[in-house]
Amino acid sequence: MMIKNICCIGAGYVGGPTMAVIAQKCPHIKVTVVDLNQDRINAWNDSDLSKLPVYEPGLDKVVEEARGRNLFFSTDVDQAIDEAEMIFISVNTPTKTYGVGKGMAADLKYIELCARQIARVAKNDKIVVEKSTLPVRTAQAIKDILDHTGNSVNFQILSNPEFLAEGTAIEDLFSPDRVLIGGDTSSEGQKAIESLVAVYANWVSRDKILTTNVWSSELSKLTANAFLAQRVSSINAMSELCEKTGADVSEVAKAIGMDSRIGSKFLKASVGFGGSCFQKDILNLVYIAKSYGLNEVADYWEQVIIMNDHQKRRFSKNIISTLYNTVSGKKIAFLGWAFKKDTNDTRESAAIYVADDLISEQALVAVYDPQVQETQILSDLNYLESRTEMENKKYIHVASNPYVAVENSHAIAILTEWDEFKDYDWQKIYDSMLKPAFIFDGRNLLNKEQLENIGFVYQSIGS
Ligand code: UDX
Ligand code: ADP
Repeated sequence: MMIKNICCIGAGYVGGPTMAVIAQKCPHIKVTVVDLNQDRINAWNDSDLSKLPVYEPGLDKVVEEARGRNLFFSTDVDQAIDEAEMIFISVNTPTKTYGVGKGMAADLKYIELCARQIARVAKNDKIVVEKSTLPVRTAQAIKDILDHTGNSVNFQILSNPEFLAEGTAIEDLFSPDRVLIGGDTSSEGQKAIESLVAVYANWVSRDKILTTNVWSSELSKLTANAFLAQRVSSINAMSELCEKTGADVSEVAKAIGMDSRIGSKFLKASVGFGGSCFQKDILNLVYIAKSYGLNEVADYWEQVIIMNDHQKRRFSKNIISTLYNTVSGKKIAFLGWAFKKDTNDTRESAAIYVADDLISEQALVAVYDPQVQETQILSDLNYLESRTEMENKKYIHVASNPYVAVENSHAIAILTEWDEFKDYDWQKIYDSMLKPAFIFDGRNLLNKEQLENIGFVYQSIGS
């Protein structure tokens, strides 16, 4: 089937950029991205491109080129489903916060709602593509719902997991390492796979488009994220050992990374990984393994999360012990709140947990992040439910400028590796702080020698 109309349900960090790129690369396909959230859709339609709801380098240019030509953002979900031959489901699948599997399993409520809506609206055959990361065998659940509509519409379910990383989403979409498409082994299933292959083949070479069965595709996504997160936890585990032994984790990472079997990427020790995927996907993997009685498999992967939690906690503990065992009433400036640079996404960011620990010790936390707004920072802290919103507001202050954030502070903590932090006037910052002036660099971003020459007491991760 030649695809002329695509609908994507969910205009978030995955759906928005992915569809924008598909539309830009395939001018002959009409792409409509729908979402229930009117504010989000308004922001995607804003003529001021700096107001797009997702901050991604290069995204504004792609949207500018395609929007209104063959890329549309709307809240009319039914109409977009009706018109499309291919429907991507790109809604959020957070970790469950209630009931069976609470804190572990993926909450599939939004996925099921989408499937039911497609079932209700569809009048002709559709290919439904899972884009969100899902537990293995979710495709079967979607298929069950769709096949019981009783309106003789045929549905093919494909799994097409997204491997883009935030901050480099546009680059990752333009030249992916691979595109993975899983589908049914029947001839109908193979035809559906070919339709989606043809969409990507507009800009991705065919040898990079892998096709598998649905279950392999679903599990590959969880596996890829688990392996990536495991590398970060592995190097973070070594960082603590480095601090005790006099080794330097950056040197160790370089030395092992030159082994072509290990490779040099994803070996940066940090205050801990964040983001919407790693923790959620591993918890989900652990839950699935346990549900099959594979307790050793579950324990093995759970350790990646335990290590990550430890890394965040030991960062805050070190700040407290270094500041003479009390931070009560002391101002601590945070540079960065996003879970990594070049994104405004804060989901599971280490900054949230470090701030929460310090506030529990009555520290006054002043935050500056170039892309994250005050309302988001407050809502991240409130979500933890460690204290009331009123109390959080007493302890957290969001500054619109880094120099204001650091003024009269006892210490600076670097939580995100934004490039601009390297170019600040560190002498001016030093002069405006209380002495001794401490820097806790959770990203090993700054120049130790330069800062120590100015007079800072500088501590990084793993040395
Ligand atoms: C990840 C996967 O990389 C991507 O393929 C998948 O589609 C979604 O999940 P993302 O969460 O956007 O992408 O960012 P990623 O670059 O993987 O970073 C995740 C976290 O790990 C960040 O907090 C980052 O700062 C941290 N990290 C990464 C490190 O601490 N050290 C590293 O060496 C690499
Ligand atoms: P991701 O990182 O997976 O893209 P986001 O939370 O950024 O996750 O985006 C998911 C989007 O899906 C949200 O904007 C949410 O409003 C939208 N959404 C969730 N359920 C539905 C639904 N049933 N119909 C339309 N949009 C939905």
